[in-house]
Amino acid sequence: MTTPRLCRSACCVALASIALWTSGAQTGIDKKITLQPGGKPIDMPGLHNVIYVSERLISGGSPEGDAGFESLKILGIKTILSVDGARPDLVRAKKLGMRYVHLPIGYDGVSQEQALKLAKAVRDLSAPIYIHCHHGKHRSPGAAAAIQMCLDEKCTVAQATDIMKRAGTDPRYAGLYAAPKELKRPTSEELAKLRIEFPEAAEIPAVAKAMVDIDHRWEHLTLIRKAGWKIPKDHPDLDPPHEALQLMEHYREMARLPSVQKRPADFKAWLKEGEDAAAALEAALRKARKEKDAKVDLVEQAFEQSRKACAQCHAKYRDIPRSKTAKDKDD
Ligand code: HEC
Repeated sequence: MTTPRLCRSACCVALASIALWTSGAQTGIDKKITLQPGGKPIDMPGLHNVIYVSERLISGGSPEGDAGFESLKILGIKTILSVDGARPDLVRAKKLGMRYVHLPIGYDGVSQEQALKLAKAVRDLSAPIYIHCHHGKHRSPGAAAAIQMCLDEKCTVAQATDIMKRAGTDPRYAGLYAAPKELKRPTSEELAKLRIEFPEAAEIPAVAKAMVDIDHRWEHLTLIRKAGWKIPKDHPDLDPPHEALQLMEHYREMARLPSVQKRPADFKAWLKEGEDAAAALEAALRKARKEKDAKVDLVEQAFEQSRKACAQCHAKYRDIPRSKTAKDKDD
């Protein structure tokens, strides 16, 4: 693990550009990393896909553990703004004197109302501000683009879109890409007049909560897959069949939610497919463990089935631009 060192003053409220050095423990060579306007994403310990957005704003992935929060400290962050569905790690933030504000958004875009709230937060709260979703690739750069459109009179649609492109936002998220075009830039008086609560942990709808749990297990299974379907060396706590079992349980619990029972038949069918694929993955992993030389084909097949269930359901029920759907509000 490398340790970044800040060369410029980290406590300056206005960020111009920040230069960091990672002292290469393995190589013995100091590698300079710069976080600057228009620059490529950088990774720091426990903090991924970090990009410079403006003098007040940096975007990236969710801070992971002590290392992630230490990295935020190195960046001089005063306020953390989460647009993710997961519950913020308030304990670690408070320990370092950082304020958390939780204003979640979906993959379907940024509404005018959400954009105004986010813009007001970035305008009025202590800077530098770190905005994050889970991986820092889609929703946080999408939100950052909307914020820039609202706060910076000179920001063009192309410049806002560039924030998403630099972060690697998938073009499939058409709603996120549409937001800079569709937003109406507020006047400074309009923003000043807005009365907004800045919750440190927002109420999350049941389906989104279930998805955060499902995604957590999915991330574990992805790590296990990378380790050749064995227990990953740096995650000795992950037992492969048990992770698949947990995934299946989360699907099963989700299917029991009253709001899910009211959903259309294809939604429920994909949920069942996800559950069945997770069960098949568990069985295949147990079999592979028992028969030491077992082929991984079965395991790969079940993994692919699982992945397909996520992708198909999201394409219809999560990622469609909000302008094209009447969003289900009854979760
Ligand atoms: C049956 C449909 C369905 C399946 C299957 C499904 N999802 Fe989702 N997922 C959704 C919906 C709908 C949302 C949006 C929830 C909301 O914001 O209200 C969502 C949201 C998410 C989110 C965003 C959570 C947040 O932070 O708000 C993640 C991450 C996610 N899903 C991961 C996964 C993964 C990984 C899988 C497969 C292992 C999966 N999902 C399978 C329907 C599904």
